[in-house]
Amino acid sequence: MRYRLASPSPEHAQEISSLEALLYPPPLRGADSWRLDLERPYSNYCALWEGERLIACASSWNLLQELEVTQVLVHPRYQGQGWGKFIFAKLLESGIQGGVERATLEVRRDNEPALKVYRRFGFTQVGIRPKYYQGRYDALLMVCEDLQDPAYRQNLEHFLEEYAERISK
Ligand SMILES: CC(C)(COP(=O)(O)OP(=O)(O)OC[C@H]1O[C@@H](n2cnc3c(N)ncnc32)[C@H](O)[C@@H]1OP(=O)(O)O)[C@@H](O)C(=O)NCCC(=O)NCCS
Repeated sequence: MRYRLASPSPEHAQEISSLEALLYPPPLRGADSWRLDLERPYSNYCALWEGERLIACASSWNLLQELEVTQVLVHPRYQGQGWGKFIFAKLLESGIQGGVERATLEVRRDNEPALKVYRRFGFTQVGIRPKYYQGRYDALLMVCEDLQDPAYRQNLEHFLEEYAERISK
């Protein structure tokens, strides 16, 4: 198998930071900040690797019954191939298995690829934070309340089945 799914550990903070730096120059956070986050007991990470290269990573804070998405990153060379949807679906799946019922996130209003990913998995807009990013760009607040709904879970599993042949664990 070419691709491998494996949760990162704090030792992988530099890889995540490097991926983030490719997507957000200058980087939003350094490796130390990622390491701290990886060590939090309520942090949850899903990551996809090609060999030793990190190609996609999604993270959340899972507290009580709520999953707060903290980041979704896909390596620029691998974007537009479905990996964003895949890694996001894996993040939701692991939250669901851990018992979360609802998920929240914020996203820049003009981030069309991210919005497509989030809408695909049932997130709807519930609010706006005007000029939230860099004092210029609005943030949309989005929520999905259906995570433990049997139909939602089935839909997610069907989606992930399509990827089974592409991934090894
Ligand atoms: C957002 C991101 C994770 C999406 O990853 P991806 O692997 O490209 O996503 P996918 O290939 O699974 O799907 C993206 C969808 O957006 C569409 N898309 C891709 N580029 C697009 C663009 N420039 N404009 C509009 N739609 C676009 C794709 O066609 C696809 O739509 P579909 O499901 O209807 O086919 C990735 O672009 C990324 O890492 N961006 C930088 C970091 C970021 O913004 N993270 C989210 C923070 S909230």
